[in-house]
Amino acid sequence: MAERKAFVCGHPIAHSRSPKIHGFWLRQYGIDGSYDAIDVEPEVFDDFLARLAANGLVGGNVTIPHKEAAFRLVQRRAAAAEAIGAVNTLWFENGHLWGDNTDAYGFAANLDEYAPDWDKAEIALVLGAGGAARAVVHALKMRGFRHIRIVNRTAERALALADAFGEGVSGHPLAASGEFLPDTGLLVNTTSLGMHGSGELPVDPSALPAHAIVTDIVYVPLETPLLAVARARGLKTVDGLGMLLHQAVPGFERWFGVRPEVTRKLRELIVADLGV
Ligand code: ATR
Repeated sequence: MAERKAFVCGHPIAHSRSPKIHGFWLRQYGIDGSYDAIDVEPEVFDDFLARLAANGLVGGNVTIPHKEAAFRLVQRRAAAAEAIGAVNTLWFENGHLWGDNTDAYGFAANLDEYAPDWDKAEIALVLGAGGAARAVVHALKMRGFRHIRIVNRTAERALALADAFGEGVSGHPLAASGEFLPDTGLLVNTTSLGMHGSGELPVDPSALPAHAIVTDIVYVPLETPLLAVARARGLKTVDGLGMLLHQAVPGFERWFGVRPEVTRKLRELIVADLGV
């Protein structure tokens, strides 16, 4: 079989860790394939998609700022993409260009690995209401959470996101988090707050019950200020790096035919690369 070529496209794209992850797996499984970063400007994204097959590409990942455009342009959508309204994984099947969103899968798989009973928590508090929060809320709904509360600096965005998901999901201003913390079983930060130099979160994990799990989808630094405070309080914490690693699994399997494993060795490679 000819070499199978996959890609990640975005603009800018230099920061993407995806080539490291897929390159690691291609070597590990001895697959005749490649996975390269391609910088694609927004004006030419639809052209780029139209020429995938002609350019010999079997599929790839889509990142900022193309996830919504990819959602509109694919010919078929997987259920998660439909629910999240954005596409991060492309592949061909029966002559059609398909799009999926594997962020919700990655989020859930990371918690499955490090906090196996996480989905018994039933009540979740989500900080933030952007694209990442959408994937998280979808994952929480799929895993049976009864109450999903979204709090956001811009309350309207939290309300709109909650509306889109319907029953069991509510939207509130950030200040409402204090009232929700005492019965929260799972706290998820999806905002960029807490990354290097962007300040602390206006949420105090010490108001959470002792059994609560705290996770952050930010992974630079690996232990965000929120996770550090939660861990110091004796709460179970899960960092966001596993979500990045696990979200790559379904794409690799579709392009190269092997379901790859997220190993400690892969994690160490990416940690070293990030310098976190
Ligand atoms: P992503 O796709 O990564 O979720 P996004 O759509 O830009 O990115 O969303 C970023 C989220 O972080 C939003 O919830 C944003 O709050 P607003 O909707 O009010 O903008 C939140 N966020 C970013 N910087 C913040 C800050 N300094 N304080 C509070 N929330 C912040």
